[in-house]
Amino acid sequence: MTMEGKDMVQDVHISSRKDDHLRLAQQFYVHNVQALSNHDEIDAMQFVHQALPEMSRERVSASTSFAGISLPRPYFINAMTGGTELTNRVNYRLARVAHDTQSALALGSMSIAVKDPRTRDAYRQLRDDFPDVRFIANLGAEHTVESAQLVQEVIGAVALQIHLNAVQEIVMPEGEKDFTGWMNNIRAIVQESHVPVIVKEVGFGMSYETVQQLLNIGVHTVDIAGRGGTNFAQIENARNNKQDFNYMENWGLSTIRSLIEAVEARKNQGVDAHDVSIIASGGVRGPLDIVKYCALGADAVGLSGAFLQAITSSDDDNEAVESTIELIHDWDEHITNIMTILGVENLEQLRTQARYTLPESLISYRRQRAQMWK
Ligand SMILES: Cc1cc2nc3c(=O)[nH]c(=O)nc-3n(C[C@H](O)[C@H](O)[C@H](O)COP(=O)(O)O)c2cc1C
Repeated sequence: MTMEGKDMVQDVHISSRKDDHLRLAQQFYVHNVQALSNHDEIDAMQFVHQALPEMSRERVSASTSFAGISLPRPYFINAMTGGTELTNRVNYRLARVAHDTQSALALGSMSIAVKDPRTRDAYRQLRDDFPDVRFIANLGAEHTVESAQLVQEVIGAVALQIHLNAVQEIVMPEGEKDFTGWMNNIRAIVQESHVPVIVKEVGFGMSYETVQQLLNIGVHTVDIAGRGGTNFAQIENARNNKQDFNYMENWGLSTIRSLIEAVEARKNQGVDAHDVSIIASGGVRGPLDIVKYCALGADAVGLSGAFLQAITSSDDDNEAVESTIELIHDWDEHITNIMTILGVENLEQLRTQARYTLPESLISYRRQRAQMWK
């Protein structure tokens, strides 16, 4: 087969894979977020109620910033999709939501735009129709500086996400099995990129060691994307009819464990620690989770599966967009309410003044891990 022919076959694979991901993520999501075992530790984290909050709702602001992006709220729409007819429609809906709510919108991997120039028009259309939306471009860590720059320019992104998805590739029947060179690629992209770079997992979490490795090569923003929501071992296993990877479905660090590891790695980084932003994501269900992750040290929280459910809740574009905007406004109010009763005015106070207890399992996990960080 000619190179061109090979690329065409690969493109067909990428497109059908993207549609499969969307369908399977939707199918499994509700079960995963409802599974108690995925959330037992975050649920067992309890704020200590203070009956004298001495705070007025009016004074509370949950605004935040990371990777040069200022947001009115501590959460944003995280990476999902794009590049096919179906997934472009989902992105178009999400861009309308992002426009109306001043949210940042991370797009799913744009490797399809690297490989097939014909797919770039839809991204350019999105950029032209929503010039004020803060898009975040996304690519895998196997890509070069040139590809990273290309996707950033195609969508006019204000930041670039580089994803780490080794587990997904292993379980994916057509996936890559050689993960050497990622560190060098990331280092080069961070050095050359015109916009801030966020390195993210895709739902298996980042350990203390991983975060340290990333900080050491100049990364300033990590998105830990832990286990608990969308599960790419499960999704790829469902697509794989050659081998059974059932045993991988519990692989990875839960979001709360990963966040604790990342915060510790940042703390031990030393003088530049205040320059490092941590995004918590993976299985985030709503306002209370968001406030808890921020109290634990996250600068912002990303949600994919929850927004995928909302934005595909109706066949009618307007209805889906409006109900997702309503959901965001509702969550904003709840976050303000929770911060009010906690007596904190902003995220900095939430991190330093809110008191909470953690379950024994988490404390013992942390103790074991701390032995390995000496
Ligand atoms: C349909 C779908 C496609 C995704 N594709 C990508 C992707 O291309 N790149 C990426 O970095 N993450 C991708 N993700 C992973 C999410 O960004 C996120 O890390 C993960 O879903 C965990 O968050 P959640 O539990 O809120 O969904 C995708 C998620 C979904 C639901």
